[in-house]
Amino acid sequence: MGLNVIMMGPPGAGKGTQAGRFARERGLLKISTGDILREAIREKNPTALAAKARMDRGDLVDDAMIIAIVADRLERPDADPGFVLDGFPRTVAQAQALDGIMERRNNGPLVIVDVMVPEQELVRRLGGRRICGACGTNADAVASTCVKCGGGLVQRADDDHGVVRERLKVYQHTTKPVLEFYRERPTFRVVNGAQAPERVARELDALIDDASQSAMSAERAR
Ligand code: AP5
Repeated sequence: MGLNVIMMGPPGAGKGTQAGRFARERGLLKISTGDILREAIREKNPTALAAKARMDRGDLVDDAMIIAIVADRLERPDADPGFVLDGFPRTVAQAQALDGIMERRNNGPLVIVDVMVPEQELVRRLGGRRICGACGTNADAVASTCVKCGGGLVQRADDDHGVVRERLKVYQHTTKPVLEFYRERPTFRVVNGAQAPERVARELDALIDDASQSAMSAERAR
């Protein structure tokens, strides 16, 4: 039986940081739609290049394209132990598509975690973030080059102050309704993301374990 997690939250909440760590520690597949798009842009994939302008101004890219990327990724064998989604679903249409995929996979509970952080802190984090220009990894706060590949550090195009404001608006209008789509499910949890990353990690692990164990007990009792 797999374990499947959605890391929800606004831009800069720490979804990618926590999704990467949790997936590594539990042997799950991490799928970050933002990372997949940025990597495809670096590789000059024509479809991703066509989506770049939307990303650079803080808009979402087309639902059909993103749903196809995630569905395809989840069909590969490394998704069998389960997955952690970072940045998907971001629209109600994407959440509905994921429900269809989950039904077909029939492989363990789906735990949804909302990582909450006040807007002022999100703006501060994104304004200060640097990523590796070569491989896209988030930079370590004290390093002057990428800890993974030694590449030079740059600002992400959509971390420009004006674009961050737009991303936060898009989050409020389009992605917040996804939280309402999930909120009444017994596996929906909220974590305070405005704490040190290690503390967020501890609380997140406890919430996810609790939600998945209750879902499995409920399933066994049926
Ligand atoms: P995406 O890459 O998903 O960006 P995002 O959701 O805006 O998220 P971020 O990567 O900015 O933040 P995060 O929450 O992952 O935080 P992180 O851990 O990096 O999407 C980019 C674009 O792609 C979208 O705008 C859209 O155009 C397109 N796209 C992607 N998915 C899509 C979809 N499903 N549908 C349509 N379009 C889609 O941390 C941020 C910073 O904070 C880092 O510097 C980190 O070190 C730091 N930090 C993390 N945790 C803490 C902490 N606890 N305390 C202090 N600092 C912390």
